Amino acid sequence: MCILYERKWQPKNGVWRGEKPPQRIEVESKILRRELLAENTYLLEFAVGADLAAELGKTGAFVFLRLPEDPQYFHFPVGVMKVGGAAVQVVVEAVGPKSCRLLESAAGEILVRGPYFNGVLGQPWIDNITCGTIFLIAGGMGQPPALPIAARLAANNNRVTALLAPGKIGRIFIDRDLEDLGVTVHKVESLRRKGTDLLAAWLADGETRPDLVVSAGPDEQHHGVIAAMQAAGVNVPMAATNNATLCCGEGICGSCERETSDDRRIRLCKVQTDFSQLLP
Ligand SMILES: Cc1cc2nc3c(=O)[nH]c(=O)nc-3n(C[C@H](O)[C@H](O)[C@H](O)COP(=O)(O)OP(=O)(O)OC[C@H]3O[C@@H](n4cnc5c(N)ncnc54)[C@H](O)[C@@H]3O)c2cc1C
Ligand code: FES
Repeated sequence: MCILYERKWQPKNGVWRGEKPPQRIEVESKILRRELLAENTYLLEFAVGADLAAELGKTGAFVFLRLPEDPQYFHFPVGVMKVGGAAVQVVVEAVGPKSCRLLESAAGEILVRGPYFNGVLGQPWIDNITCGTIFLIAGGMGQPPALPIAARLAANNNRVTALLAPGKIGRIFIDRDLEDLGVTVHKVESLRRKGTDLLAAWLADGETRPDLVVSAGPDEQHHGVIAAMQAAGVNVPMAATNNATLCCGEGICGSCERETSDDRRIRLCKVQTDFSQLLP
């Protein structure tokens, strides 16, 4: 089934989504809101043009951010959490030179490059499912991409149950937004400990078996969710956030290349796949 899905998901003419190659716009913007969510983790809001904002509402959308005075190789991918009119919200965790530099800048001027779309592996499953039962597992920095995923699923009349954990950043911050979308929210201190047991119980219950599972968080979490599904004998699609190391984002540099279980090498900034097909 996965091979079939992959064949369907890939663009027929080597172009991703649509007949024309997408035009990347790089716009100057200013940070309009900056809120400390957790240690070293900030919600940022900035404005972009109407066309770019509309594109950034799509599932798995992300942008590259950098400071205007920095060279292009300082840009880094950041997933879109919310779009409201022209305002875009993202959450950035300071983990290394690029994210720290952006967050430490006092001026608040930024360059926003986008739209990019491959932030979720299995995104067509999310876009196409209607009236289904979905388990959404989100830990730490998996929360920002989990919110637009949940919004998309809720818009298509799916029943979404979310399992949230604070992860390394130490805070759950999307619970209210999810509840406003009609999602049933369960919070645990740790996915590794209590979360795994809870997920195993949900998966074992024949009445609540899901049609789709979504894991938003680090690859380690994705592997834990796959293991729980295998242990419960649940064989349904699993979509997962894309944690590849991206450099160009255009399918050119090769920094995001991974090998698959059927001996292909794919560039994760561009190519859709089933996460479980990626070799470690
Ligand atoms: C599609 C996509 C969407 C993303 N969305 C976001 C987002 O919304 N917000 C955000 O803050 N980041 C996001 N990232 C991750 C971000 O782009 C990287 O963390 C980026 O490398 C940061 O650059 P840096 O120079 O600050 O750190 P780097 O020098 O690249 O990393 C510094 C150190 O931190 C480690 N590290 C990098 N990322 C993480 C991480 N996520 N968790 C733990 N350790 C890490 C690295 O292994 C390295 O040791 C996303 C990545 C992808 C591929
Ligand atoms: S990031 Fe350059 S090929 Fe994917």
